[in-house]
Amino acid sequence: MTMNVLLTGGAGYIGSHTAIELLDMGHSVVIVDNFSNSKPEALNRIREITGKNFKFFEADVCDSAAMDKLFSENEIECVIHFAGLKAVGESCAIPVKYYRNNIDSTLTLLETMKKHGVNNFVFSSSATVYGDSDKMPLTEDMPTLTSGSPYGRTKLMIEQILTDACSADPELSVVLLRYFNPIGAHKSGRIGEDPSGIPNNLMPYISQVAVGKLPKLGIFGNDYPTPDGTCVRDYIHVVDLAKGHAKAIDYAASHKGAEAFNLGTGVGYSVLDIVNSFIKVNGIDLKYEFQPRRAGDIPECYSDPSKAERELGWKAERTIEDMCRDSWNWQKNNPNGLN
Ligand code: NAD
Ligand code: UD1
Repeated sequence: MTMNVLLTGGAGYIGSHTAIELLDMGHSVVIVDNFSNSKPEALNRIREITGKNFKFFEADVCDSAAMDKLFSENEIECVIHFAGLKAVGESCAIPVKYYRNNIDSTLTLLETMKKHGVNNFVFSSSATVYGDSDKMPLTEDMPTLTSGSPYGRTKLMIEQILTDACSADPELSVVLLRYFNPIGAHKSGRIGEDPSGIPNNLMPYISQVAVGKLPKLGIFGNDYPTPDGTCVRDYIHVVDLAKGHAKAIDYAASHKGAEAFNLGTGVGYSVLDIVNSFIKVNGIDLKYEFQPRRAGDIPECYSDPSKAERELGWKAERTIEDMCRDSWNWQKNNPNGLN
């Protein structure tokens, strides 16, 4: 069944890849973004890759008048809410802005959806809601957040808000997608992650070292209780993640209530695994040095993705080699990102 899907934050990294998958599958897509962390060129690239058109609204999702207008002018059947601020360190420096943006946008959407009789909602949550669990792999029924950042707390609070909204409204359907570590890019090399300033996350940092924009990678800690001493994460190809959203909108349309799903591969790779794989797959050198641990990092974090396979019919298919090759293909073809 094809649907008319609103993607908030659809010009961003995960939203743009999801737009491509949905358009390729024949869904109609409407995108709203305020370009606070993305560029209009992303929309051109989505059109170029898919050969398909979609409606775009430049607006802040917290603006209820703008959202009301958007829902009045379009027959939206499902909302995927990507829009949000996501930098962990920044969220500690400006927490109020993070709470305002991430929580207000969700509340505005819930109110607008209710007014317009739209009942299907998919939310971009994060593995960060599991906090610093020492049991791996992480399953959806494990306790959430004992520590973390304001960013992580917005994700957990939003999960709770959406769950409460479902308890009160038997018509509402919410899918909470807990992403692990998305990396990689569309195979065309025309779209990918385009962080502003110096990247915080591992793969964009590696790519910018490889392309010569940064001198060397600092590996944060080599004395963790892991096989090679560096932190272990569940990296997932952004295209696999995007395909998970296609399954989630089908699930939302055929279920009621709130349900959480891990979107990961279930395999943990260390920082050194990623570095070595990037060097090998792409045949290039990469300078790195070991540095002290980064505050807030946990030694290991990886998913049990079996619930998503069982109930959504989704499984990640792309390998760590695919992720390293596609990240580099994007970066080398777009050394200055989307301009
Ligand atoms: P991104 O910053 O590339 O995309 C988010 C988009 O939302 C941007 O285009 C930004 O301009 C837009 N936006 C932000 N606030 C807005 C607002 N109030 N109104 C309209 N547009 C707004 O981030 P991403 O990596 O694509 O992440 C998408 C979602 O997934 C976010 O909610 C993020 O917290 C979540 N998430 C991301 C990761 C990750 O590693 N990338 C991991 C877990 C969860
Ligand atoms: C981080 C966030 C998490 C968020 C996710 C996606 C923290 C503590 N966690 O996850 O909440 O959901 O991003 O945005 O910030 N590393 C280096 N050198 C670098 C960069 C990273 O060694 O220059 C290491 C880190 O120590 C970590 C791994 O690489 O072990 C992955 O880091 P990163 O990509 O930032 O993701 P997370 O920290 O897992």
